[in-house]
Amino acid sequence: MWSGAHLIGMDGADAEQLRSVLDVAADASFDPDALRGRAVANLFFEDSTRTRVSFSLAAQRLGARVVDWTSAGSSVSKGESLLDTFLTIESMGFDAVVVRHRESGAARLLTEHARCAVINAGDGTHQHPTQALADALALGEALGRDRGWDFSGVTVAIVGDCVSSRVARSNVASLTALGARVILVGPAPMVPDTLGEALGCEVAHDLDAVLPEVDAAMMLRIQLERGAGRLLPGGFDYAGAFGLSRQRAAGMKDGAVVMHPGPMNRGVEIEGVVADGSRSIVLAQVEAGVRVRMAVLDEAIRRSV
Ligand code: NCD
Repeated sequence: MWSGAHLIGMDGADAEQLRSVLDVAADASFDPDALRGRAVANLFFEDSTRTRVSFSLAAQRLGARVVDWTSAGSSVSKGESLLDTFLTIESMGFDAVVVRHRESGAARLLTEHARCAVINAGDGTHQHPTQALADALALGEALGRDRGWDFSGVTVAIVGDCVSSRVARSNVASLTALGARVILVGPAPMVPDTLGEALGCEVAHDLDAVLPEVDAAMMLRIQLERGAGRLLPGGFDYAGAFGLSRQRAAGMKDGAVVMHPGPMNRGVEIEGVVADGSRSIVLAQVEAGVRVRMAVLDEAIRRSV
């Protein structure tokens, strides 16, 4: 999970590392001056709402100065590369750079050249570690488990366009490390058996067969910007087969929760009334995201000095 001061992915995450971040985030007794005098840059080459804003807010709540950079309006339009952009920003004197980029491996590449801490805020279809931490925190708090983030006996279905999803890849690693049983569910082109084999989790193609068993259903957006539209045959009724409808949600276990990393496409992977319903912890995931990003920024900058 950590590689020096850098947080690039959840691969290799162990329960102890995860629990130490989750404990800090859950306790939420942060020192508002912890990062006083420090500077954090957000380097977002891809669009974002919750991830970018929550990293900014997290850094500010710890007393750091924050600069928000987005590729729109930048010298990327003049041909500047990812690495040159990063080195330019870093040389101004930042302690941590939070990066999001459409290429898998972008954040890892930067760590080979970085002097500051690099935190991956999503690289292509590869990893999104702070989303997985936010999801684990929100799920643990929702299930009311007072047993040190031990998710054994908890079954989580991750439903939809898993093959395109960095959120799915990060969550499989972290949830499995915490002891959960994870099942990827979706149409075969979006949830190929090889993906389950590569990630070491189960795969299923019938949502109605899986849903009654789960403690959490994590719904994913179809990532059209990564070409996912081509994965399904024309006319395929995605919402009918894999959307979390009111009727399907009603058949879930008592206490089972509905999750979504956002952004949601209401009426496709999730019906609006379910997103807003009593099982939904979607906004709790967003709130948890601020706390885990505070814990991560604090730890990353502490590791970098
Ligand atoms: C996700 C992402 O960007 O990977 N959103 C997020 O960060 N909460 C998922 C998505 O875009 O569908």
